[in-house]
Amino acid sequence: MTLQIRSLEQYHEAYRKSVEDPEGFWAEQASTFVWRKKWDSVLKNDFVTPDVQWFIGGKLNITENCLDRHIETRGDQIAIIWESNEAHEPSVKLTYRELLAEVNKCANALKAQGIGKGDRVCFYMPMIPQVAIAMLACARIGAIHSVVFAGFSANALAERIKDAQCKMVICSDYNRRGPKTIPVKSVVDEAISMGCDSVEKVLVYKSTGGKVKWDPNIDIWWHETVDNMGAECQAEVMDAEDMLFILYTSGSTGKPKGVVHTCGGYMVYTCYTFRNVFQYQDGDIYWCTADVGWITGHSYIIYGPLLAGATTMMFEGVPGHPDAGRFWHVCEKHRVNQFYTAPTAIRALMAAGWHAPEGYDLSSLKVIGSVGEPINEEAWHWYDEKVGHKRAPIVDTWWQTETGGIMITPLPHITDTKPCFASYPLPGVQPVLLDPNGVELEGNSVEGLLCIKYPWPSMLRTTYGDHERCRTNYFAAFHNMYFTGDGAKRDEDGRYRIIGRVDDVINVSGHRIGTAEVEDAINQHSGVVESAVVGYPHDIKGQGIYAYVKAHSEVVDEDHFRKEILDVVTKEIGPIAKPDKIQFVLQLPKTRSGKIMRRILRKIAEGQTDQLGDTSTLLNPECVEELKAGALE
Ligand code: PRX
Repeated sequence: MTLQIRSLEQYHEAYRKSVEDPEGFWAEQASTFVWRKKWDSVLKNDFVTPDVQWFIGGKLNITENCLDRHIETRGDQIAIIWESNEAHEPSVKLTYRELLAEVNKCANALKAQGIGKGDRVCFYMPMIPQVAIAMLACARIGAIHSVVFAGFSANALAERIKDAQCKMVICSDYNRRGPKTIPVKSVVDEAISMGCDSVEKVLVYKSTGGKVKWDPNIDIWWHETVDNMGAECQAEVMDAEDMLFILYTSGSTGKPKGVVHTCGGYMVYTCYTFRNVFQYQDGDIYWCTADVGWITGHSYIIYGPLLAGATTMMFEGVPGHPDAGRFWHVCEKHRVNQFYTAPTAIRALMAAGWHAPEGYDLSSLKVIGSVGEPINEEAWHWYDEKVGHKRAPIVDTWWQTETGGIMITPLPHITDTKPCFASYPLPGVQPVLLDPNGVELEGNSVEGLLCIKYPWPSMLRTTYGDHERCRTNYFAAFHNMYFTGDGAKRDEDGRYRIIGRVDDVINVSGHRIGTAEVEDAINQHSGVVESAVVGYPHDIKGQGIYAYVKAHSEVVDEDHFRKEILDVVTKEIGPIAKPDKIQFVLQLPKTRSGKIMRRILRKIAEGQTDQLGDTSTLLNPECVEELKAGALE
């Protein structure tokens, strides 16, 4: 089993070793897994092209490490506990033995449908055990999963299916989220009708039993195929650097990009970080509330915990259903030991009642985690006092889709915690802060652009189908560095505090949204000439979306026009990208080269109209007064 750090001395020792001898350090971690063939060399380190490879020549299958190797020691231990959207419905529990059998049946079904090594399979699924089963089934046969968050629209889904040329889509009939039932299959049907010619089959899990449209040429029921398959399936032997999955994420320009993760390095890193960050001990019940449509769901609901032989919980519902006590009720019911959620959920639950968690027995909690966006001080203290009872430390974990696993975090009961600080790099992670010219800021009490200067095993390898985009996005800004897109501070003791994105990405309720994507969507409205989107502080969501829209003609009925714009954004991307505020303008502030001056728009959206700085270099400085006058509270 992957080694676990248990003291501050061990952390310092592991960190020192990981910097002095990174290859030796990671080889030691990797040797705790089952490999079909050992690697020939540990690392290819090219941070420029980039061409990073780990455990080169090694052969493995990640599912043998997630499942088969546990059968002897913990076959009858619960692997997955599933908690339904409806509080009164019974939980479902799958042991490691049962999970392996289900994964094998699904893997056999995929093979029977012609899916094989290297084929891409798109997922559009609710939070039900079948999503984990099918993802692992793909990994078992060497197919590449591309999970799309089930809140995205048909357009967004179609775009991702086409980009990865997926051969199959796996979905459910419907999705229950809180009080709503969302039609899933019909969104998939609509997406496929948008020219997704690569899709040969749609595998549908009957989740609610609601009515769906059926095309017998491509649609197949899960219960009619998977359930009839044999429970044995040989795992495909994969190269350490073969693709494991693609996950789309937003950047500052253009369409979302497909971040590619590979088998070996991702396996080693997610298991190592899971064991250490959550200090998981045998018998613990671990719960991460993320959706599997995001990287947190991949790394810390499925792969990390299963690799570590943990009991991981999946939750179908939402924090406020049937009431704001649901999370605490579930923690009490299952005696949860590690609880991992997002600041946006913490703020929403805090707003629902300062003392609310007091009615529940949260004494089982040993570690509580935060991920996805900066956690503000008030929320940190509330979480610490009302949920952790100052006994279960908060791990404020900083990482990204691209990093594959947690990078900067306190280690519970080992390193100290400080409100709003992600704190210390994990062993193997070498963060640096740079000034805008790329000069490294040495020493403590500095603030700059956060980069990582040495490869780590679970870093992205490319962006699917477009390696140049990966290079320009992450490796071109600063020589020999991975640029995160975040700004950060280092305090007087060397702890890191993440400030937030320095590029045109907004973090809305922990979801990454590119301003360019929202602008493209708004501009689809025939009445819109151009638009500019910025983020602004939002009490619950962290950041809200503020859109400035220039219309073709005078806007007579603003409310009606706003609604139409929201509809367009919902259709193009999904409800998560809907602007919170839309200000109609006659002009957008432009530089002489025609670029929109976003700094000014950001300040106005933030209500800091007295801090606009120099506006005289604008091509149209006269627009500033109009923008200020029309600003929305
Ligand atoms: O800005 C950082 C923020 O979320 C971004 C990554 O988003 P995504 O790829 O969707 O992954 C989210 C889950 C890992 C980062 O660039 N972020 C993530 N965690 C934190 C954070 N900001 C502050 N503190 C964090 N703990």
